[in-house]
Amino acid sequence: MTSISLDKTSELKERLAARTARIGIVGMGYVGLPLALLFSEERFRVTGFDIDFRKVSTLNDGGSYIVRIPGTEIQLAQRNGFSATADYAQIAEMDVVIICVPTPLNEHHEPDLSYVTGTVRSIAPHLREGQLVIVESTTFPGTTEEIVVPLLEEGNRLGLRVARDAAATGFYVAFSPEREDPGNDSVARRDIPKVVGGCGAAAADLACAVYRTIFNRTVPVSSPAAAEMTKLLENIYRCVNIALVNELKQLCMRMDIDLFEVIDAAKTKPFGFQAFYPGPGLGGHCIPIDPFYLSWKAKQFDFRTKFIELAGEVNLAMPYFVVENIVEALSQQGKALCGSRVLILGLAYKRDIDDLRESPSLTIIELLQKRGAHVEYNDPFFPTVGQGRKYALNMTCTPLSSIPEFDCVVIVTDHSQYDYAGIVSQAKLVVDTRNATRGIAAPNLTRS
Ligand SMILES: NC(=O)c1ccc[n+]([C@@H]2O[C@H](COP(=O)([O-])OP(=O)(O)OC[C@H]3O[C@@H](n4cnc5c(N)ncnc54)[C@H](O)[C@@H]3O)[C@@H](O)[C@H]2O)c1
Repeated sequence: MTSISLDKTSELKERLAARTARIGIVGMGYVGLPLALLFSEERFRVTGFDIDFRKVSTLNDGGSYIVRIPGTEIQLAQRNGFSATADYAQIAEMDVVIICVPTPLNEHHEPDLSYVTGTVRSIAPHLREGQLVIVESTTFPGTTEEIVVPLLEEGNRLGLRVARDAAATGFYVAFSPEREDPGNDSVARRDIPKVVGGCGAAAADLACAVYRTIFNRTVPVSSPAAAEMTKLLENIYRCVNIALVNELKQLCMRMDIDLFEVIDAAKTKPFGFQAFYPGPGLGGHCIPIDPFYLSWKAKQFDFRTKFIELAGEVNLAMPYFVVENIVEALSQQGKALCGSRVLILGLAYKRDIDDLRESPSLTIIELLQKRGAHVEYNDPFFPTVGQGRKYALNMTCTPLSSIPEFDCVVIVTDHSQYDYAGIVSQAKLVVDTRNATRGIAAPNLTRS
């Protein structure tokens, strides 16, 4: 019995080395699709699983729904055997299954693990011996061991258990956090080290063998919980430091000090300082959400994560601060916000990407509309914007040629294709929340 299991581990490693192992990625979103393409570039036959039929058919038609991934990349992957499906029965054909589904917060600001548990329940009946399941979705420490493993063990038809060493029979489970930074081309994906925590050394070892085919370095840690916590530490570190500069920005504005100048000076220190920049509030799927996964879990241990709560408070207040600055800037021109025409530049939560999840623009638009402003937007990445889980904009992109018609133009996202000098010269009033207009001085320009 023991030798059969050992053979299975080494057999999968051999097939990984020979690129004959089948890779299944569940969740063809911002994380899962690029990951699928990385494996495909390495000549693996990859299957993408998604419950969104539109995504499945777009991919199978050789198309893409993510701006920075052209259809040609999907077509290239198809030539290496890539296909997409909503049929979980195909899980049985995979050797490695990687879960990249959303982990949002619910309306009470608590972890919503329903996508993860739904996925795991769908995978479980098709599990077979020797398969490796890896969770990449960001989540609180304990998810893999306390939630994923029991669901896989309960739900599989063969009565398999998780294999905790190479001598055991069963399936392998690991957690490996995603470190995708959309829009950041300064580090090649391959050069981003991949942290891996396995349910046992054999699972960690197998998962490292999987990732070594597409990443230059893997970083094994002692458990899935350590890997889950690593991801949260990285994001909480960002969240807290962004809150710090957001608070300092408000003080610096009162003191008439340019915080961006200060940060640029501070970052010349060759040790002990990393630059973070203030902005209109947090956005994206990670930084505004992930820290609350930990503060929720901490309550089980009678522990209050005060830094996370304070950072959340400061960052959540930023869109309100921006709106107050808009009100003030308009009043300097003798205008009230109510009835004014306001153009928001940038819907995406950060520069040069097509993702508006949790974007501060959405909150700012909502707050302005509530106070009677007539709001429109321009964003080269969103010709139209309809309805999402937390917004109902139903708007169309206003061309930049209309700028002179607006009482106020608010730079919320500093897309690199905007001509900021041109915008300032045409607008009646510009409120810049990103320091995109640095170096430009004009009486109609306010920084917020
Ligand atoms: N986007 C990022 O920059 C980023 C970075 C690091 C980590 N993460 C984490 O990665 C995870 C995925 O994020 P994302 O941005 O790719 O999300 P996404 O919303 O872009 O994609 C998730 C995909 O999963 C699919 N899905 C949902 N339930 C499913 C199910 N039961 N079966 C199959 N498919 C299902 C959805 O249809 C969607 O296509 C999250 O936990 C997130 O926190 C994201």
